[in-house]
Amino acid sequence: MLSKLGVKLAPIKIVMVNSRLIKRLKASGIHNFPDYINYALSSEGIRTGEQQCMIDELTTHKTEFFRENEQFEFFKNEVLPEFAQNNRSTFKIWSAGCSTGEEAYTITMLLNEFKFSKNGFLYNVEATDVSKAVVEKAIAGIYGGNNLLGLDDKLKKKYFIPFKDDKNDKIQAGNTLKEKIKFTVGNLANINNYPLSMFDVIFCRNTLIYFDDNAKREVVNNLIRKIKLGGYLFVGLSETVSQYSKDIKQMRPSVYKKIG
Ligand SMILES: C[S@@+](CC[C@H](N)C(=O)[O-])C[C@H]1O[C@@H](n2cnc3c(N)ncnc32)[C@H](O)[C@@H]1O
Repeated sequence: MLSKLGVKLAPIKIVMVNSRLIKRLKASGIHNFPDYINYALSSEGIRTGEQQCMIDELTTHKTEFFRENEQFEFFKNEVLPEFAQNNRSTFKIWSAGCSTGEEAYTITMLLNEFKFSKNGFLYNVEATDVSKAVVEKAIAGIYGGNNLLGLDDKLKKKYFIPFKDDKNDKIQAGNTLKEKIKFTVGNLANINNYPLSMFDVIFCRNTLIYFDDNAKREVVNNLIRKIKLGGYLFVGLSETVSQYSKDIKQMRPSVYKKIG
């Protein structure tokens, strides 16, 4: 049933699904899982927002600034100079499965820093997630506490402003970052419905875990179709995707170049 949403969970995840959805069953006064899922997927479930509540419960949103930083080092030291040497067009990048935005903001800080060393370098960033709740947080760009561990003080001062609330312990992404990123809700299972163009680089990290093997193959191939020849796909450090396509070549652990 969940496959209608593109959520094709491996059998091992069913226990996790049940424990996460139980509170939604209680909140909506429905007594069994099939009835609840049918309701959440119905037009009434979309209208009342239950479908989004269900998606939020089923997805894990863990993320952080500069997560798996060796990939960002490769991006900064190899990918960006390679692009700048060979191209004059706008560099386009997609954070697919962006969660609360830390990945997209990290990428945008790196692109903006790179811009200082390369006159005329233009870029834009798209970021999408299936969960409306996290996309709203990403757009707000307000972070505090442990969320900020990966962010060094220099970048914090340069790209964030203090966020005024009761505690004054949070910061908010400033306009330099916000103006560059377009955050939207989107399901990777329906990429072909996205109004997205072709990309030089796609980051789709720690997001493919939600799909079973067949669905993963389909999503990976759809992502590859959205990458320009010579462009890159970054997946999470614990993920491998070379088995799904002959059109990519592994350059590093979890970094692939489109070759066909
Ligand atoms: C663990 S977070 C990873 C965030 C970030 N990419 C990172 O590596 O830090 C995974 C994100 O994938 C999103 N996600 C799960 N299934 C998705 C789908 N079918 N389409 C789009 N996003 C999805 C979840 O909502 C969640 O925010």
